[in-house]
Amino acid sequence: MNTIWSDYVQNIDTLYCSRALRFSDRYREAYQRAFQIDGKKKILEIGCGPGALSESLARWYPDAEIIGSDRDSSFIAFASRQAPNVRFLEADATALPFAEESFDVVVSNTVQEHVEPSKFFGEQYRVLKKGGVCLVLSARRGISIEADCISAPSEREESIWERVKPFYLESGQKYEVGRYAMSESELPSAMERYGFSHVSTNYLAINLTPDHPENSREEAHAMIDAHRRSALDAVSAWRRIAPKEVSEEALLELKKIICQKYDKRIQLYDAGEKQWDTSVSLTMVLRGIK
Ligand SMILES: C[S@@+](CC[C@H](N)C(=O)[O-])C[C@H]1O[C@@H](n2cnc3c(N)ncnc32)[C@H](O)[C@@H]1O
Repeated sequence: MNTIWSDYVQNIDTLYCSRALRFSDRYREAYQRAFQIDGKKKILEIGCGPGALSESLARWYPDAEIIGSDRDSSFIAFASRQAPNVRFLEADATALPFAEESFDVVVSNTVQEHVEPSKFFGEQYRVLKKGGVCLVLSARRGISIEADCISAPSEREESIWERVKPFYLESGQKYEVGRYAMSESELPSAMERYGFSHVSTNYLAINLTPDHPENSREEAHAMIDAHRRSALDAVSAWRRIAPKEVSEEALLELKKIICQKYDKRIQLYDAGEKQWDTSVSLTMVLRGIK
């Protein structure tokens, strides 16, 4: 049983909520244009985490069979409860438990940078049918602007973060988070090197701006609360990573400060006082054919 990622790197609910916003049906056409997999019957997602992309694929391609896989048992348990119409299973991307030429499409989102490239591309190549499509979604540098009521860190937050920072950096290295990250030019080159042809790249901008008039109140709150969750998770991780630097009392104090800031942001939204804070994620969609 492997729960390293969900225990030490990213919280299950937080990851699910942030991805559900990014794989919302609002962006369906943009993803489908970049994917070009209409009519494909068997789709495998690797490193699916809590399963938000697999869940969306099941809605967007109702005639296809979708299988979501990840090596983290807690993510797979969560995803199976969340989307019972999709089959989820535990599987390591470096040794996929499938025969050669089993799938029409293999897809992943923000997984490549954590897995050794010859295994990452090699295993997908092996399990794809001839003519099958490999889709690698990769987060690129986006835009993140916080509302004034959130951005200014209190002295207390800053002083604790300075003490925690070295432990945080060490923990990222220990779990190989981002160890194999590649640039926008290295990624397509690597895909070609591992045997894929007709390699192409697309970039999708997902604009999460609570004050955008197209968003309902519920959607705007969900965007603000996704950041609240991330911030709360981050300080909980500080306590796990550096328990001597962050006492239980300090953790409660930090969480209170964070909640007050996000409560204020929600109040401003509800009062119609626009802040125009925004989070624009840029996703690279790399596509290659076996
Ligand atoms: C940044 S998360 C992305 C999760 C999911 N794709 C999403 O966008 O919500 C990276 C995921 O890769 C998974 N992962 C890392 N190394 C893996 C491996 N060797 N085999 C399978 N999954 C792996 C982690 O468990 C985690 O779920």
